[in-house]
Amino acid sequence: MQQINIRKVEKTDSNQIINLMKKLSVQTKYMLRELDEVNDDILEQEKRIEGMLSDPRTLYLVAVADTTVIGMIISSSSALSRIKHISDIIIGVDRAYWSIGVGSKLMEALIKWAEDIGLKRLTLEVVEDNIKAIKLYEKYDFKIEGTKIADHFIGNDTYLNTIVMGKILDANIL
Ligand SMILES: CC(C)(COP(=O)(O)OP(=O)(O)OC[C@H]1O[C@@H](n2cnc3c(N)ncnc32)[C@H](O)[C@@H]1OP(=O)(O)O)[C@@H](O)C(=O)NCCC(=O)NCCS
Repeated sequence: MQQINIRKVEKTDSNQIINLMKKLSVQTKYMLRELDEVNDDILEQEKRIEGMLSDPRTLYLVAVADTTVIGMIISSSSALSRIKHISDIIIGVDRAYWSIGVGSKLMEALIKWAEDIGLKRLTLEVVEDNIKAIKLYEKYDFKIEGTKIADHFIGNDTYLNTIVMGKILDANIL
């Protein structure tokens, strides 16, 4: 099987990141953006990546097959003292590479980083019928915390519920 490596995003990944986001926007209804809503300005993407790389409270990892970026995970947190213990997660893997462990590798690397820098809680939102993603999160002990009704519009008058999930990294805070 092709070797998949996980590493920090680099500024030079900008073009590939845009391509991945475009692919995902049509491969799945579960990401936030429609195809025409993906920003394809490379300079803006480079600035965004630079900003994230310089923020110690943000982690942006990519999964790479040979030299192609085929997955990404972002964890970001606020600097506000009352919520800086929390990190929000976004994850996406190119459909051609689903179900071979890429999402798990990305999530494991992210959880290790979050524990290492002392974050207390990871959180994310997932559309209620996105079973594959929910299984991934449950595998890493994320728990369902609530439901947002009619939160995600996918066209054709269809509004789906979104589930809020969370994972406590430090049981001592409970
Ligand atoms: C959700 C997503 C990131 C999962 O990535 P992935 O690389 O396919 O995940 P993995 O191969 O590591 O599988 C993780 C777990 O999901 C579950 N899973 C995998 N394939 C599955 C399938 N076909 N059906 C149901 N569950 C499945 C399994 O529990 C698996 O763990 P296991 O292999 O140890 O049993 C990926 O499918 C994706 O990018 N989807 C579109 C974008 C998206 O939905 N993002 C999340 C928005 S909240």
